[in-house]
Amino acid sequence: MFTTFRGGQSGGWKVTSVARVKGETLPKVAALSIISSEAIALPLLPSQTSWRLAGVAGHLRYTEKAEKEQLAAVQAGLGRSEATHAALIPIRKNAAWWELTQDERREIFEDKSHHIAGTLNYLPAIARQLYHARDLGQPFDFLTWFEFAPEHVSLFDELLGTLRATEEWSYVEREVEIRVERE
Ligand code: HEM
Repeated sequence: MFTTFRGGQSGGWKVTSVARVKGETLPKVAALSIISSEAIALPLLPSQTSWRLAGVAGHLRYTEKAEKEQLAAVQAGLGRSEATHAALIPIRKNAAWWELTQDERREIFEDKSHHIAGTLNYLPAIARQLYHARDLGQPFDFLTWFEFAPEHVSLFDELLGTLRATEEWSYVEREVEIRVERE
């Protein structure tokens, strides 16, 4: 199952900002729609006024059993009625990251950067879904999606600050932050 994020003129989410964090940004669009499909839906021609990013919510690569259980015990699902704010953050990591072995990546991801242990506290306020895009030949390796209530906007800002200061993030070569609100 493919999930496609389409930035354009219409959609269920109103885009409030498109911000470049690192590398090339994406064109500012008015709205974001999210489509699930059996086949990948990519544009025939690149456009200045819209974009499509596809990913797959696949299996976990780094999470250990105990962590998976900890997450499952506290996390909230997508689509909560109070979660009227969301963010789409497409991310690409550099060649140095992909040259590392699985063990080396896990060490940076969790032992050094505490990606899971350091962010568990943000659950269940922040609901999340990770989509993998690298193997689809997409411009980003990951599409990350977060939903939260308006009163948790600053909590989400704090979470971003924490993660972006980690060693893991030194391998990020492209990152765009798209903030949206439900129409
Ligand atoms: C991967 C948890 C916030 C970006 C992961 C994984 C977990 C996780 C468990 C590993 C999945 C696997 O085993 O493959 C969390 C929790 C968060 C959080 C609990 C708190 C809300 C964020 C934020 C961002 C982000 C705010 C982006 C700004 C990523 C990326 C990956 C990832 C890019 C893939 C890393 C890779 O495979 O190299 N996250 N995350 N996460 N997360 Fe987070």
